Amino acid sequence: MHTLAAVLAHNRIAVLHGVNLDQLGRRDPEQYGTLTLDQLELRIRDDAHALGLEPQFFQTNAESEFVERLHRLRDLADGIVLNPGAWTHYAWSIRDALEIAALPAVEVHLSDVQAREPFRRVSVISDLCLLTVSGQGADGYRVALERLRDELAGAAPA
Ligand code: DQA
Repeated sequence: MHTLAAVLAHNRIAVLHGVNLDQLGRRDPEQYGTLTLDQLELRIRDDAHALGLEPQFFQTNAESEFVERLHRLRDLADGIVLNPGAWTHYAWSIRDALEIAALPAVEVHLSDVQAREPFRRVSVISDLCLLTVSGQGADGYRVALERLRDELAGAAPA
């Protein structure tokens, strides 16, 4: 979609992946499936377009880069889908940056974090998010996009 139209439509979604998500395809397929990050992003892109959303993708293994990306998002995106990987469980800097971004956000985990080790049951971002989706693999991103589409449709000017 043309950039101006995207701005007017409130449909720009930042899809942020954090630490070790670039290693998808090499990680435990029982937990994370077999898609590489590139393949996952293609699927998210298709799902987003089918919902009338315009995704932009970002992944880093550097916490400071993730934080700085969040700082810049306010003018670049209307909503956020984020899977911060292990940072989810302890990175208060990312929580603060998500609060600063002040955009509707949905947290996604490929694996069922509630059914794994106790440290994964803690999320420092979940109370800032509209929804947490976990254990649904790649389908979870579609659930997240649908939630954001509904949220942004409600926020769009008449
Ligand atoms: C993850 C779950 C985290 O506990 C883990 O550290 C990850 C990926 C997921 O998508 O299931 O790296 O966020």
